[in-house]
Amino acid sequence: MDVILSGMRPTGNLHLGNYFGALKNFISLQELYDCYFFIADYHLLTTHPNPQDLHQNVKTILCQYLACGLDPEKATLYVQSSVPEVAELYMFLNMNAYVGELQRVAAFKEKVRQNPNNVNAGLLTYPTLMAADILLHRANKVPVGKDQQQHLEMTRDYAERFNKMYKTDYFPLPQAFNFGDDLVKIPSLDGNGKMSKSYGEQATIYLTDEPNVLKKKIMRAKTDSGPTEKNSEKPQEIANLFTLMRSVTKAEIIQQFEDAYNDCSIRYGDMKKQLAEDMETFVAPIRERIKELAANEDYLNKVVRLGGEKARESASKTLKEVREIIGFHSF
Ligand code: ADP
Ligand code: TRP
Repeated sequence: MDVILSGMRPTGNLHLGNYFGALKNFISLQELYDCYFFIADYHLLTTHPNPQDLHQNVKTILCQYLACGLDPEKATLYVQSSVPEVAELYMFLNMNAYVGELQRVAAFKEKVRQNPNNVNAGLLTYPTLMAADILLHRANKVPVGKDQQQHLEMTRDYAERFNKMYKTDYFPLPQAFNFGDDLVKIPSLDGNGKMSKSYGEQATIYLTDEPNVLKKKIMRAKTDSGPTEKNSEKPQEIANLFTLMRSVTKAEIIQQFEDAYNDCSIRYGDMKKQLAEDMETFVAPIRERIKELAANEDYLNKVVRLGGEKARESASKTLKEVREIIGFHSF
């Protein structure tokens, strides 16, 4: 059976892009496969968070994962730091990870440009830790976005290197999970690229946004002065509004706005009002569940414990076998 694994660094609240680009897929995958979803808090140490922030960030993502519908009974949902076996595998993999190849990784080079004063060895070996995350459960399918493709390729290289070195086929070579046409990109509200926490609060819809905030953001979304020619092509910011609408609004209502656009009678104010209403209907139950979960420490505790136990069961089996393969036999 396929083993699916994905991780997310706990860097703040989840936005609509995270939901439709990641969480929604995880939720459908957990019904069909052996899934491991984890919160990558070790990875966060590369940027030196303070201890209070670290815990709070993990809690935030945990509540939001659960509120979106990740089910700890179906998937193995865990916090990376509750599975210290990953650190040992990371060390083993680092023995065969070359400094030159790590220095050539695009995400590393970008981080060095952004933060020249914090080029630590953890940052350099970020891809090795990610490989350890994946190989720890011998996962063979990894649902990742484009920005993580290079890291996944390196995981395959490390797995292959290990297999060759020890003349084994122990590690599967993990592939990107292919969603086909279902991989959506949620656009930002400012008419530019994809929605992202790095491109401004006001252009990003968070699952925690209160109704008034949500409405304000949408009503302020960028639009133009309207089409003047029938059936004309939509400028980027208008196409973006329609894309956002497709995530939450009924098809027949979207069609009415499409028709209005095509015969030049569209009123963007009405369209945004509709979008704001439908967005609120979508976000409200998630937002309320996030609040309930955040207040239920006992439940969160139980979830983290259960996930940690399940993940450690699989991790310790892998480490035992890896130690044997490397030549660490017991006396
Ligand atoms: P951000 O761009 O806000 O930093 P991340 O890089 O943390 O988001 O993304 C985490 C996950 O959410 C990834 O799987 C990524 O592919 C997905 N994701 C993020 N933004 C979008 C978006 N606008 N549309 C679709 N998927 C997205
Ligand atoms: N690097 C990933 C990100 O920034 C998070 C991550 C850590 C991950 N380990 C992983 C994703 C293993 C998939 C598999 O989004």
